[in-house]
Amino acid sequence: MSLLIKNGRIITAADDYVADIFIENDKISTIGTNLDIKADQVIDAKNKFVIPGGIDPHVHLDMPFMGTYSSDNYETGTSAALFGGTTMVIDFVLQTQGKSLYSALNEWKGRSDGNAVGDYSFHMAVTDFNEETKSEIKDMIEKEGITSFKTFMAYKGALMIDDKQMVGLMNEVKKQGGMVTTHATNGDMIDYLVAKHKSEGKLSPLYHYLSQPEITESEASNRFADMAHHTGVPAYIVHMTSENALNHIRDAAKRNQKVFVETCIQYLVLDASVYDKGFESAKWVMSPPIREKKDQAGLWAGINQGSVQVVATDHCPFMLEQKKMGEKDFSKIPNGSPAIENRMELLFSEGVLKNKISLNKFVEVSSTNAAKIFGMYPQKGTIAVGSDADIVILDPNEKHTISAKTHHMNCDYSSYEGWEITGKCKTIILRGKVAVDNNKLLVEKGYGKFIKRNKFSLV
Ligand code: URP
Ligand code: ZN
Ligand code: ZN
Repeated sequence: MSLLIKNGRIITAADDYVADIFIENDKISTIGTNLDIKADQVIDAKNKFVIPGGIDPHVHLDMPFMGTYSSDNYETGTSAALFGGTTMVIDFVLQTQGKSLYSALNEWKGRSDGNAVGDYSFHMAVTDFNEETKSEIKDMIEKEGITSFKTFMAYKGALMIDDKQMVGLMNEVKKQGGMVTTHATNGDMIDYLVAKHKSEGKLSPLYHYLSQPEITESEASNRFADMAHHTGVPAYIVHMTSENALNHIRDAAKRNQKVFVETCIQYLVLDASVYDKGFESAKWVMSPPIREKKDQAGLWAGINQGSVQVVATDHCPFMLEQKKMGEKDFSKIPNGSPAIENRMELLFSEGVLKNKISLNKFVEVSSTNAAKIFGMYPQKGTIAVGSDADIVILDPNEKHTISAKTHHMNCDYSSYEGWEITGKCKTIILRGKVAVDNNKLLVEKGYGKFIKRNKFSLV
């Protein structure tokens, strides 16, 4: 199979030029102007942007959580991702406390094997660090190609580990060449505030927001960065929402420490007024919660300064019926919201077209940096000879309206219902195959491949 993309404006994290791309089988084989090569399929990309396929390193598909399961599975989640220009996702395998990492991995393989439409990988979430878990880290990295280890500093009793376990894990992961990532919020403080609000009869979704003030995040981010500095492990904080948390990491970076920051699209474009809507606000109940306009501004600035490297989604959708589990008690609302399909187009429309970030920065934070940080570059995350032909052809002028009626995520609401967006991911190529064209899915479940990742290697 060969494919020739003609006349597109190719944007990578570093470049911006017009050229043709020739693809043989699953790889990019030639890039040049006026390529005169016969191909099985030719696509004219004149006046369109040609960018690397998006990589979303923070999604939860088919995840058992808070007494239910996230509503997108591997098939629906990765195909919705493709429609939105994301060709690869990294999901989280969650260890069950008291059981091994391998038993969790086998469970997740059971859900994902043969079901994904787009490419995927796993982070391993260590929820119980002990001698057995410690002995599994090396094999996760060397045999399974799972090189990042997720921790939770909140969700006590289910996912949270304490600082003693954290430091033990960091030392082992450092030794084996991996990276430790975290959900950085102070679980004990949050549990205290949740109990306090409930005892006062404050039970609406607004109190989810009020139970996780900014300090719960900034304190934990600072603590995590200090522990990572002490152990020397490469570190990554997922879904950062707040200016003060980011300021702690700016300080940590002065020590020349490898500590990376991810934010998510919702924290850049929404503010805490979403919690003023009565029970409808359950749609935006996620952890950490959506914050203030000053935090949005801080995060956009962080992206431009290079202190926020990745924009992900934390895609964790639940149907409205599932959200109703917390109708009488905000602490029972399953945490999470849908976004896997919206990230690239929202970031382009709200970020690039509103002059908050450049085109190169858009590519960097939506694809290239995730590939570099998580050990997949240059196989993924760029447009270069020898790279996987994961390519998005984006029409920068096409307008459309986001709606649950037309999205492909298995979720009966949209966090952005009615938002008018400019810029549409028209043609999505995954490993040399046209996977989506003009809103039609052209690959089947099972096409998505598990991508083994390399050890951490950034200097
Ligand atoms: O609310 C969220 N973020 N749900 C998914 C689990 C997590 O904390 O990332
Ligand atoms: Zn989290
Ligand atoms: Zn998450």
